[in-house]
Amino acid sequence: MSAGSRFVRACLRQPVDRTPIWLLRQAGRYMPEYMAVRKHHSLLDICRTPDIAAEVTITAAERLGVDAAIIFADLLLPFTPMGLDFEFLAGEGPVVHSPVRTAEQVRSLRTDRIDELNYVARAIEKVAAHFSAPRADGDQLGIIGFCGAPFTLASYMIEGGSSRNYIETKKLMYGDNAAWPMLMEKLVTVLVGFAQQQVEAGADVIQIFDSWVGALSVTDYRRFCLPAVTELVRRIQSMGVPVIYFGVDTASLLPAMAETGTDVIGLDWRIPLDQGWKAVGTGHAVQGNLDPITLFAPEEILKDRVREVLAAAAGRPGHIFNLGHGIVPGTPVENVIKVVEWVKEYGAL
Ligand code: CP3
Repeated sequence: MSAGSRFVRACLRQPVDRTPIWLLRQAGRYMPEYMAVRKHHSLLDICRTPDIAAEVTITAAERLGVDAAIIFADLLLPFTPMGLDFEFLAGEGPVVHSPVRTAEQVRSLRTDRIDELNYVARAIEKVAAHFSAPRADGDQLGIIGFCGAPFTLASYMIEGGSSRNYIETKKLMYGDNAAWPMLMEKLVTVLVGFAQQQVEAGADVIQIFDSWVGALSVTDYRRFCLPAVTELVRRIQSMGVPVIYFGVDTASLLPAMAETGTDVIGLDWRIPLDQGWKAVGTGHAVQGNLDPITLFAPEEILKDRVREVLAAAAGRPGHIFNLGHGIVPGTPVENVIKVVEWVKEYGAL
């Protein structure tokens, strides 16, 4: 773990010289450099080719001047070694061809081929080697590995893709007392192994994406998800790295999400950062939470919102500046770079 990294220090609520910043989906279709690579390779080719995944990761971090690089990969990669075929269709997003709807299908999911995901670790090794020396300001750039959370991954497996109401997911969750816990357990097994590979390869921090957990009531979150995420968080922390746990539309879930024991909670943009921090408690760091669509706003508004987020954090140790969800295609790159520069200027502590 990089002790000389303001990003890692902030995850641990240690004092830093200024608020660290990185951005959700910092390598993506809004960035011409990414689109140039994407012209010649599919999304999955990029993910599965360590040289290219490392290049895309490094280019985005250096172009933006952020304090951490998130490895270029996707939440759904573990589906392949579990025996579930999927693809990304242009305009439609991910499609799982035989969605998991029965206990029998859950039973047949494999957990013994995690090694096949090793290409992500190989890419992390390359990124870690590239950033092994401190930067000009003496700070060690942080390297973030990631995985999906059990609920969010289960929702893609069961719905067969993105969803609005999560009807099939909730049917399995409520209706099958054996299948749901078995699915959660299998996902935790695979995700722990996947995270382990990433940590051994040089990831300083692991972020768990529970992007769609906001679809759940507090009661259902506690009953059907909290035990599995808590287990996942605890086992990743035992590898010696801090964990960031992020979800969208989570205002009502934050106190329960904090009970996982995660080091950092990623806040979505709907809740004022100080309220979100209060809800998770001062025993956790927070990451967030500028609305990514303000990147389309006039400069004065954008700058105002950046300062609002910093003001809400009030210089307390344990704030990592980020967006409240991912950068969307069409976002002006120059506005993203401005935000990074403003945080460096106004986030001095
Ligand atoms: O720079 C980075 O952020 C790292 C790369 C990254 C990707 N996916 C690459 C990608 C990360 C962190 C993810 C995580 C991911 N994947 C999430 C959680 C993030 C969040 O926003 O909450 C989710 C829900 C997925 C699943 C997924 N992957 C979907 C729903 C889609 C389609 C969405 C769309 O905009 O079309 C993807 C595709 C995907 N993964 C893209 C990228 C850059 C865009 C498609 C492309 O390049 O062809």
